[in-house]
Amino acid sequence: MTKSLYAIGGGQMVEAIIRASLKNQATSPETTHVVDISPDRVRYLADTYHISTSREFQTQALKDSDLILLGVRPQDDWAGISKQIGASGQKKTIISIVAGVTIEQLTDAIGDEDYPVVRIIPNTLTDTGFGVSGVALNASARQEDVDEFLKSFGKVDYIPEKQIDIYTGYAIAGPNYIYNFYLALTNAGVLGGLSRKQANEIALENLQGAAKMLEITGKHPYELLDINNSAGGVGIAAQHELDASDFAAGVQNAVLAAIKRTTELGKES
Ligand SMILES: NC(=O)c1ccc[n+]([C@@H]2O[C@H](COP(=O)([O-])OP(=O)(O)OC[C@H]3O[C@@H](n4cnc5c(N)ncnc54)[C@H](OP(=O)(O)O)[C@@H]3O)[C@@H](O)[C@H]2O)c1
Repeated sequence: MTKSLYAIGGGQMVEAIIRASLKNQATSPETTHVVDISPDRVRYLADTYHISTSREFQTQALKDSDLILLGVRPQDDWAGISKQIGASGQKKTIISIVAGVTIEQLTDAIGDEDYPVVRIIPNTLTDTGFGVSGVALNASARQEDVDEFLKSFGKVDYIPEKQIDIYTGYAIAGPNYIYNFYLALTNAGVLGGLSRKQANEIALENLQGAAKMLEITGKHPYELLDINNSAGGVGIAAQHELDASDFAAGVQNAVLAAIKRTTELGKES
């Protein structure tokens, strides 16, 4: 069933969520309202998605909504907005994508510790059908109220709130690690003598195929490598170089740095 949505902060992430949820008919243009302080942004969103928009809080649109999507940045006035929501007397589930801001900080700002709040770290591959959002609910929020909407822009993993930072650094920043690997691999192909086009096409094919192999066989990567790396062959020669390099530690350190930075940003907000 389509949900009516009241979104505050119509930036890049909210737009990606709205685009996917409209496409998958979890929401409809007639029942979607976005508030953004930028006049250019509200004009663009209204023209592109045929939704209603405003530059200021709209109590009636909030009353008409099933869900509130809080999509401003941690440095914006999320506390003031939350206070306005609390003062409106409406008790509509808030889905917050504000990085680093906890459920407790939000209910404190709303002024009601029993207000239903869902904190998510949204999947950013919204247009692909891939990607997972990490979702934490407080005791007042109900999974069945948000599940269909959340699944309209990716897969959903319900997690304890304490895992949100890990989720951000590992899952949400995840495509960045893949883009970097793809870039390193395609440059290797060009270095070896292939054209950029050939290198790109082959790497993309292998990335997708290898992901599919992991998925359909359910095998551990060591088992798949064992099949590919025959005695004294090409695969094991490459494997030796990778094992001798800081490839694995480099990826792991990058993920740990992303998790640490997420926690630092949360403390600053
Ligand atoms: N982008 C991502 O990939 C991603 C991924 C995961 C989570 N997030 C989280 O999603 C949130 C939004 O990120 P974003 O990248 O979409 O940021 P963004 O593009 O900068 O969007 C934020 C929007 O909110 C508007 N805004 C600021 N204060 C407002 C207020 N008081 N009332 C209404 N609108 C207001 C901003 O307008 P002005 O620009 O005019 O100030 C801007 O249009 C952040 O908390 C971020 O941590 C983003």
